[in-house]
Amino acid sequence: HTPQLIDQFGRRVDYVRLSITDRCDFRCVYCMGEDMTFLSRDEVLSLEECARLVRVFVNLGVSKVRITGGEPLVRKNALSLFEDIGRLPGLQELTMTTNGSQLEHHAQALRKAGLDRINVSVDSLNPERFRQITRVGDLNKVLRGIEAAKQAGFTNIKLNTVLMHGFNDDEAVPLVAFAIDRGLDIAFIEEMPLGEVDHQRSATYISNQATLKQLQARFPLVSSTETTGGPARYWRVAHTNTRIGFISPHSHNFCESCNRVRVTCKGELYLCLGQENKVDLMPLLREFPHDDTPVKEAIFSAMHIKPKGHDFDLRRAAPAVVRFMSHTGG
Ligand code: GTP
Ligand code: 5AD
Ligand code: SF4
Repeated sequence: HTPQLIDQFGRRVDYVRLSITDRCDFRCVYCMGEDMTFLSRDEVLSLEECARLVRVFVNLGVSKVRITGGEPLVRKNALSLFEDIGRLPGLQELTMTTNGSQLEHHAQALRKAGLDRINVSVDSLNPERFRQITRVGDLNKVLRGIEAAKQAGFTNIKLNTVLMHGFNDDEAVPLVAFAIDRGLDIAFIEEMPLGEVDHQRSATYISNQATLKQLQARFPLVSSTETTGGPARYWRVAHTNTRIGFISPHSHNFCESCNRVRVTCKGELYLCLGQENKVDLMPLLREFPHDDTPVKEAIFSAMHIKPKGHDFDLRRAAPAVVRFMSHTGG
């Protein structure tokens, strides 16, 4: 039978988030500073190594994999990875988180390769503001990407929105209206203090409770016990196909039910988004190219160092976690 990854708190890990590049064609203000630097090619796993890791995790009972970045689709040949793992027996759900900038070119091929679900970051529906938040992004391109994904047969497309005071705090209602209109889900994410950016995150913080209140005044919302396997708590907009998710690391801690680990593009296995505990898998992959046992054993024993939870604290002047979301893959 398939082994299981279980941590010291009895939490079963069946979800892996794999970042295939730290690079991104956007520079979102909550994610990175303007002058972000990136890793060089020889520091990151090859796509073959990424695929090998996915197979190893699936052999360890992982049933859900999410490909992230940076922006996964700026990695050259990213499609070949999806083709490689898209139909892997035992992998029940293959998903991707993207900024949508390249989606219009790749949606169809990704669908064909076996990608099941896509989450797209959209923080504003105003092109100028979208540019301000992403520093370089083109909203219309992203919207075309979402349309292409729908055309390609993706259902349950989810928008991700980070609401920030002074940037886009007035857009919760229009974004939900947009999601309803297009039959999409949407998740509101509280900004997390990962890496230093150009503003104080405590100054832009908006609690999801406040956002929920605002939305309840405008839409008939029904709380739901559904899950998509991530930390979002969902509400359904009555008489529509839209679910609204709230990912609230600050106002509602979800660590107790954590089911996931993440692997960076350098092959570091991080046991928690908000903690430093990690194991380097790259040396094991390279030292034992034909034997998965060492890397399997390393993953297995890493379960002992999975922390109980994050301790994000917006009152601290500098973030406790120095690496950026683009490095860990969110
Ligand atoms: P699905 O539920 O499968 O749709 O995915 P998801 O919402 O888990 O994934 P997505 O990549 O869309 O992530 C949305 C936000 O949730 C990102 O900001 C992630 O960093 C955050 N997130 C996902 N898992 C965790 C977690 O374990 N801890 C924290 N603090 N944030 C998480
Ligand atoms: N806090 C919260 N969300 C973030 N994202 C990137 N950086 C942060 C942060 N510091 C979001 C992106 C994407 C998802 C993977 O994480 O918008 O939707
Ligand atoms: Fe799990 Fe860490 Fe995320 Fe908490 S912060 S849900 S422990 S990965």
